Amino acid sequence: MRLTKIITICTLLLLVSQVGAHALEILYPADGSYVSKSKYLVIKGGTDPFLDGMSIEINGVKSDVIDLTNEAYRQSFGDMLVVEPTFDPGQNTIIVEGFLRGERMAVARAEIYFHDRYDESPPTDYRREQFHLPEREAPCATCHNMSPSQADLATRDPRKYPCSSCHARMLAKKHVHGPAGVYDCTYCHDVESRPYKYQARSGDALLCLECHDDKAEDFKTSKFMHGPIEAGMCLVCHDAHATDQPSQLVMPAYELCSGCHENVVKEPHVTRGSGGKPHPLKGVVNPAENGEELSCASCHDPHTGQSAALFRWGVKSRFSLCAKCHDK
Ligand code: HEC
Ligand code: HEC
Ligand code: HEC
Ligand code: HEC
Ligand code: HEC
Ligand code: HEC
Ligand code: HEC
Ligand code: HEC
Repeated sequence: MRLTKIITICTLLLLVSQVGAHALEILYPADGSYVSKSKYLVIKGGTDPFLDGMSIEINGVKSDVIDLTNEAYRQSFGDMLVVEPTFDPGQNTIIVEGFLRGERMAVARAEIYFHDRYDESPPTDYRREQFHLPEREAPCATCHNMSPSQADLATRDPRKYPCSSCHARMLAKKHVHGPAGVYDCTYCHDVESRPYKYQARSGDALLCLECHDDKAEDFKTSKFMHGPIEAGMCLVCHDAHATDQPSQLVMPAYELCSGCHENVVKEPHVTRGSGGKPHPLKGVVNPAENGEELSCASCHDPHTGQSAALFRWGVKSRFSLCAKCHDK
């Protein structure tokens, strides 16, 4: 085991020393950083000479050699290669190999951390990676508009909007959030923020409640608030941009809720102790909502309630809850 590891390391060192002169570079995420969303892996191949193939290895899983010989590709993208990676939670070793006519010319390597859990603090030995720094943006400016003017940002034409050339994919989902769908990105993202541009003006509830004032009202008048709401955390459940779930949920309600309330799905719920089958929590039609699937949110309000158990419809007692779906 140890021996294979040493051999692997030696081989890598050998590769690096043979080919160190070539300018192949992993621009994002950079070595030693952590990211929380696994969106892009940005690679610059270098132009002396142009590479005609690259392979990408993440934690030992290696892609085929990506063919970059196509002239149209070269004309549009130059020496850039942008792919959507799938990182493993935690540490990731990324190895990119560059080829010319089948011969390996260059290797680039990055150790990064994929931190995708909100209930775990970020790793202290990796620095937070962010893209919109002047030196990061510089190599993109020949082809992308990296200094949009107010007029550029005022356009509502998706194809001309300055963020689209790179971020259009994030809106290619079934349900697009209102302001993101009309390309009002800078309502929430600050063009002037430094050192990183486009920081969200606020991470959470305060920002959301600027527009969702009916929710602000509801929070004020409700007797009980759900834990994450009390903490101002809207984004644990909602995506500010687009998702494939209704109500901009980051995942189906059942999975979302049981992620934090594991105990609920491990034991019988609702009808515990009464002998018969446990109450279904998914996979059946909800009689109170025409045709929709029953979920945790069919009985519980995800935000607030007039009872400690946050029953829907402001219902206070178990009995009135049951009556909403049974014996009607
Ligand atoms: C040249 C391509 C490009 C353009 C144009 C671009 N971005 Fe990005 N942006 C990226 C990449 C690459 C990342 C990092 C990967 C990721 O998370 O998607 C990123 C990350 C971000 C982030 C996360 C924070 C950070 O700095 O990593 C925000 C917010 C963001 N972009 C907003 C915008 C907005 C708003 C616009 C338009 C005004 C814009 N971007 C235009 C490429 C671009
Ligand atoms: C030689 C020109 C060129 C350079 C330099 C370049 N790009 Fe691009 N990039 C393109 C073109 C062309 C597209 C396709 C745009 C479109 O479809 O509207 C693109 C698309 C993208 C996309 C979207 C990919 C997708 O499939 O959704 C991202 C992300 C991106 N570029 C990031 C970058 C970043 C980051 C840099 C700088 C580090 C950069 N690019 C530099 C030409 C370039
Ligand atoms: C309703 C507010 C809002 C709007 C509108 C919005 N964003 Fe965001 N965006 C956020 C918040 C909040 C974050 C998370 C920031 C954080 O975690 O610190 C974020 C994060 C991002 C990220 C980082 C990756 C990710 O998915 O978290 C990118 C890239 C991004 N936004 C681009 C855009 C683009 C492009 C638009 C316009 C099409 C846009 N945003 C519109 C609020 C918004
Ligand atoms: C600039 C105003 C604005 C901001 C800021 C904003 N929203 Fe929205 N939101 C809208 C609009 C407009 C809609 C679409 C109209 C509607 O369905 O209510 C919408 C829709 C939604 C929906 C879906 C409503 C439904 O019935 O399907 C959710 C969930 C949501 N927003 C959550 C959030 C969260 C979470 C935040 C903070 C990250 C946020 N919003 C910030 C304007 C905003
Ligand atoms: C624990 C998960 C969770 C959190 C946290 C959360 N929501 Fe929701 N939200 C939901 C679910 C689930 C729905 C689906 C609608 C339903 O079944 O009631 C929803 C629906 C919505 C809707 C549309 C329907 C409605 O009730 O008006 C809006 C707007 C909304 N949420 C805003 C917010 C805002 C703003 C925050 C932060 C203050 C927030 N949510 C925090 C889970 C959550
Ligand atoms: C980010 C983690 C998180 C998510 C996601 C989450 N909850 Fe909670 N929930 C909490 C916390 C924290 C509390 C308050 C502490 C406690 O009582 O356990 C709470 C409390 C509750 C309570 C009241 C418990 C009581 O003691 O009366 C109910 C009911 C509830 N959640 C249901 C849901 C439902 C339904 C969903 C999905 C829409 C959901 N939760 C999603 C963290 C979460
Ligand atoms: C058919 C209605 C119904 C469904 C569906 C439902 N619950 Fe409940 N839930 C209840 C009732 C009734 C109680 C008991 C409240 C009491 O007795 O005070 C409860 C209690 C709770 C509590 C607080 C007490 C405890 O058992 O920990 C939490 C947390 C909770 N539910 C979460 C969930 C989650 C998560 C889901 C989805 C996996 C879910 N519920 C689905 C009706 C429902
Ligand atoms: C949001 C709607 C809803 C609420 C509220 C609700 N249930 Fe149900 N219940 C259902 C559905 C749907 C089924 C499954 C019916 C089926 O399989 O055809 C079910 C099944 C049951 C069953 C099993 C019946 C059988 O023949 O399999 C019992 C017992 C039950 N519920 C008791 C309760 C009790 C007690 C409450 C109140 C604490 C309650 N339910 C609240 C929707 C609900």
